[in-house]
Amino acid sequence: MGGNYDNSASFYDSLSRLVFGRALIQAQVYLLPQIPPNSNVLIIGGGTGWILEEITKLHPSGLNITYVEISAKMTALSRKRNVGDNQVNFINKPVQQVELNQQDVIITSFLFDNFTEGNMHPLFAHIHAMLKPGGLWLNTDFQLSGKWWQYILLKSMLLFFKVLCGVESWRLPDVAKQFNNYGYQVIEEGTFFNDFVVTKMYRKQA
Ligand SMILES: C[S@@+](CC[C@H](N)C(=O)[O-])C[C@H]1O[C@@H](n2cnc3c(N)ncnc32)[C@H](O)[C@@H]1O
Repeated sequence: MGGNYDNSASFYDSLSRLVFGRALIQAQVYLLPQIPPNSNVLIIGGGTGWILEEITKLHPSGLNITYVEISAKMTALSRKRNVGDNQVNFINKPVQQVELNQQDVIITSFLFDNFTEGNMHPLFAHIHAMLKPGGLWLNTDFQLSGKWWQYILLKSMLLFFKVLCGVESWRLPDVAKQFNNYGYQVIEEGTFFNDFVVTKMYRKQA
């Protein structure tokens, strides 16, 4: 289910920079200042782990981070990151096998686009259960806003990662609808790369 990015771990970040410049980084960094000090942060599908260093620039200490990544190679790269005096627990498993609760903040970036609509629903419910009432969920993903090149680029990426990493999806699942169905409120959002990338901070009902 989803995709294991082992086969692209060594070049994933370089490829991202080549295609998108710094847009995918800017999108994910945009809402990080909203992380409250001393929180429990759950990062799911964090890839090579560069986001840990960006979080550490803002919070050199005080965070309790759980980093869940299905790819062993991605997890190994992430372990080498500078996390300052924050506590980080690396879990190399699919998030579906991880049981946590009362997380203050959850970060999912380009995770849901790996899943079909049908498989995204139970995954969403599982992650939702780990966030405390009133907690923050930072989600970044691609979106189609009507420009033809977005469609071509999205299909090319999904095909590439389907062949290489077994990504199952062929179109974007409707994650915004899922947040709405579960009663989340959008607190802040930003778009990048000509609207192709959207990042949103949601708050779970208290
Ligand atoms: C498209 S990559 C994005 C990586 C990173 N968030 C970034 O933006 O650079 C998706 C990541 O999610 C991981 N992943 C996919 N399914 C997962 C699952 N069920 N549990 C945990 N990680 C998963 C993949 O191994 C991959 O590293």
